[in-house]
Amino acid sequence: MQNRVHTSASGEAAPGIRSASSDNRAAPATYPWLKAAAKRSRNIRSLRELAARRLPRGIFDFIDGGAEDEVTLADNSAAFGRRRLLPRVLVDVATADLRSDILGRQSGLPFAIGPTGGAGFVWPRGDLALARVAADNDIPFALSTTSAVSIEHMRERVDGRLWLQSYIFRQRDFTQKLISRALAADYEALIITVDLPVGGNRERDYKNDFSVPFKYTPRNFIDFAAHPEWVFTTLRYGFPTFGNLRDFTPSNDATRAASSVGRNYDASFNWDDLGRIRDSWPRKLIVKGVVHPEDADRLAGMGVDAIVVSNHGGRQLDGGPATLDALPRVKSAVGDRAAVYLDGGVRRGSDIFKALALGADAVLIGRTSLYGLAAAGASGVERAVAILREELTRTMQLCGATSIAQIDQRFLMPAQHQR
Ligand code: FNR
Repeated sequence: MQNRVHTSASGEAAPGIRSASSDNRAAPATYPWLKAAAKRSRNIRSLRELAARRLPRGIFDFIDGGAEDEVTLADNSAAFGRRRLLPRVLVDVATADLRSDILGRQSGLPFAIGPTGGAGFVWPRGDLALARVAADNDIPFALSTTSAVSIEHMRERVDGRLWLQSYIFRQRDFTQKLISRALAADYEALIITVDLPVGGNRERDYKNDFSVPFKYTPRNFIDFAAHPEWVFTTLRYGFPTFGNLRDFTPSNDATRAASSVGRNYDASFNWDDLGRIRDSWPRKLIVKGVVHPEDADRLAGMGVDAIVVSNHGGRQLDGGPATLDALPRVKSAVGDRAAVYLDGGVRRGSDIFKALALGADAVLIGRTSLYGLAAAGASGVERAVAILREELTRTMQLCGATSIAQIDQRFLMPAQHQR
């Protein structure tokens, strides 16, 4: 078991099979039948169904699953269902402007594509597909530490707004190197994820024998055999490696690196350490994974530019609050000192509207973009973003809001009048 770590213990790493090699290629185009199916999808739920059909069960569960009993995972979505909109009528809503401010710059939409490691297992060089769609829609893209594509390769290929998400490893010099690479490659912002001092307990991954490196069990063979298109596509373009993890182990072997990532999160990382990162990173700093208002207050006080109210999509601590429920207290603790973003369970344009109404300055999407990616590569991601755009536009028009800045809590039914 030395080198064989389940993803639930290894955070977001997924099985690395080949050793790292430099890879200059773009994300491959999709097949026409996958593209057509994605185009027919009316909502994110249908993209998720396509993802479930195309991916081997182990890979689908890796993206879809959460920690332990998945109470927090389910509650992230349920919290949106608990809120009711309060529309205004007789407003001229012939046009709705979705442009908004994200980190002080205009963005085409009030959301960004958040960091998700292992996208390369969903689609070859999936990170590139995600980033391209983000750039085409004029929204930021956050590259995960455990992406298939490296910081530099991403910058060469995509001329959009790029953020780097970094975990903190015991090998502090490796973390520092990642940060310096992001600076050299002109990334706009650094996200430090703070809800993963240790890996979450993702039981679906154990059940599916999903581990790093990949385990060749009878279960996995049967699973793969039942998904020949995914196997063919993955083998054709090569199993993903972890572009950012070169230098992580002395041997520079991506498989070893990926397997040891989970054992090397630095559980001792604390406020002082974050303060040092704040001092050494001259650009925008985002801290992701906060639900407590006192933590948010302290972060705002130390000059962090944005705070992401997040529980890692219910993949870390199970039993914590839904992010939408945590948002109002975080917002009132932070005030205008820092931007407040939210992620977790966003599957509808109306979810984005509700988050903005409760005080979020913007939203990050996680699984929503991965379901699209799994369904049909970049075409599927494009479809996911288009669905959110269309739904948000319609929600704004039906509620009587014509710009993102107008959306506030007056568009929500006050809690005391809800049932
Ligand atoms: C994640 N997430 C994540 N977060 C992070 O900071 N670094 C990472 O590498 C990853 N990797 C990752 C992989 C996969 C497969 C998932 C589903 C999620 C968490 C992610 O950024 C975000 O917080 C959640 O996905 C938000 O919840 P929803 O939108 O997926 O419900």
